[in-house]
Amino acid sequence: MSHAFGAIAEAYHRRRSEIPLAAFDWLVPQPCRRAVELGAGTGIQTRRLAVFADETLAVEPDPNMRAAFAVDNAKLLAGTAENIPVDAAAADLVVAFESWHWFAQPQATREAARVLRPGGTLAAAWNLPQIDSDWTERFWWPVTSAHDENRRPGRLILATKAPFATPQYRVLHWTWRRHIDDLVALLGTYSRVLTLDPVERKEFLDRQRSTVPAEPDGTVDVRFATVCWRTVHKGA
Ligand SMILES: C[S@@+](CC[C@H](N)C(=O)[O-])C[C@H]1O[C@@H](n2cnc3c(N)ncnc32)[C@H](O)[C@@H]1O
Repeated sequence: MSHAFGAIAEAYHRRRSEIPLAAFDWLVPQPCRRAVELGAGTGIQTRRLAVFADETLAVEPDPNMRAAFAVDNAKLLAGTAENIPVDAAAADLVVAFESWHWFAQPQATREAARVLRPGGTLAAAWNLPQIDSDWTERFWWPVTSAHDENRRPGRLILATKAPFATPQYRVLHWTWRRHIDDLVALLGTYSRVLTLDPVERKEFLDRQRSTVPAEPDGTVDVRFATVCWRTVHKGA
């Protein structure tokens, strides 16, 4: 488990992107009486998820992230993906946004299977910056190179012999026009950068800033792909 994000919980909450609403249409089964979100962080995605479910339980281990969580129509629970504080067969959806790659396997897969009712949905999604030019390759490398093969954002890696159907995936492409200051601050919220010591981090972010071909007004179009996965619990 990583408690890295809690050190910058407020900045994280201000800078990180929302998963597009269209992804929730595809990820959340209907009706959804109870949704359980793992690694809910400060609730950036919970706010939207709660619109699609009758009841939303947001599970987050980091006390600093929980302190920055403010979503009225969701219940915040201290817990982990490997030890979900929810009864067996109690959820229609277990979902992780930007976080499945942080969880220990096979425990997280087994816990999701325990908490879901048969026929329930396990889902995950990530907003991934697109590498489609020289500057995006130079700018985003701390994000794209930060994880090993088994801990890669964008992939729903499940434990073997888990009681789930073959996962389906969908990718949504979108563009976010950001001011260069916001873009550099966003880069500072990714684990590989936020764990640098403060002096190194500032120097690093200044260098990365110089790679961005911003318009005269300081803005730049940033392309993202939202990678969504879902699978169904097949029963025991
Ligand atoms: C990149 S943040 C994503 C937060 C939020 N889902 C979002 O989209 O903004 C990853 C989150 O996963 C949490 N996390 C890390 N390890 C975890 C674990 N083993 N179980 C549950 N959550 C975990 C972190 O504390 C952090 O809040």
